Amino acid sequence: MKKIGILFVIALGIWACQNEPKEAQAQDPREMEKAINSSLNEEPPQVDLNDPELQEKVRKLEPKAHNNSGEPILIKGVNLNETVNPQMVMKGQQVYQKKCASCHNLNDKAFKASGFGDFLQRREPAFFMNMVTGVKLEDFAPASDISTLKKCWTRQESNKLTIIEARDMVELLVSENQ
Ligand code: HEC
Repeated sequence: MKKIGILFVIALGIWACQNEPKEAQAQDPREMEKAINSSLNEEPPQVDLNDPELQEKVRKLEPKAHNNSGEPILIKGVNLNETVNPQMVMKGQQVYQKKCASCHNLNDKAFKASGFGDFLQRREPAFFMNMVTGVKLEDFAPASDISTLKKCWTRQESNKLTIIEARDMVELLVSENQ
């Protein structure tokens, strides 16, 4: 009888462990990597952006954040990295070349549209994210700017960027402003 009692306690213990609540918030792998690096007190590895193997890996990176509802989310603020993340910059560059370069310069010279060079001096990173991910202009832009902003290619439903693409582009703009 005693044995059964002990077995019961063990089984209960195993059950309790399995039912521990999973961590509520998934951690950003980049933040985790940073934390590990700093805890080891190591210099982050040098990255060669032209390395074809790295480029291939970056191309395959899957976005981790999903907006399941499909509705654009109003972004209130962007946590910028302490030091720019080269992989994000590289992905941002790919988006920029493919989708924006035909109208926007990366410097501050206006072309078919304003240059991005001085964007972060004029507006918040969150404004950029909201602008290009399809958030309603009325929710974040000054009323007097709406008719101009509407003309951006990204404001058409089929052209809006994902949150990940937009965040990578913010990283690119930060890196260009250093
Ligand atoms: C066909 C031309 C065109 C393309 C392509 C285009 N835009 Fe625009 N964009 C505009 C126009 C026009 C405006 C409004 C006038 C202005 O700000 O110059 C604008 C405005 C913006 C603004 C607001 C600028 C500010 O200073 O307030 C952002 C941010 C922006 N675009 C981001 C993007 C991004 C990111 C891409 C690529 C994914 C992109 N645009 C592609 C034409 C374009």
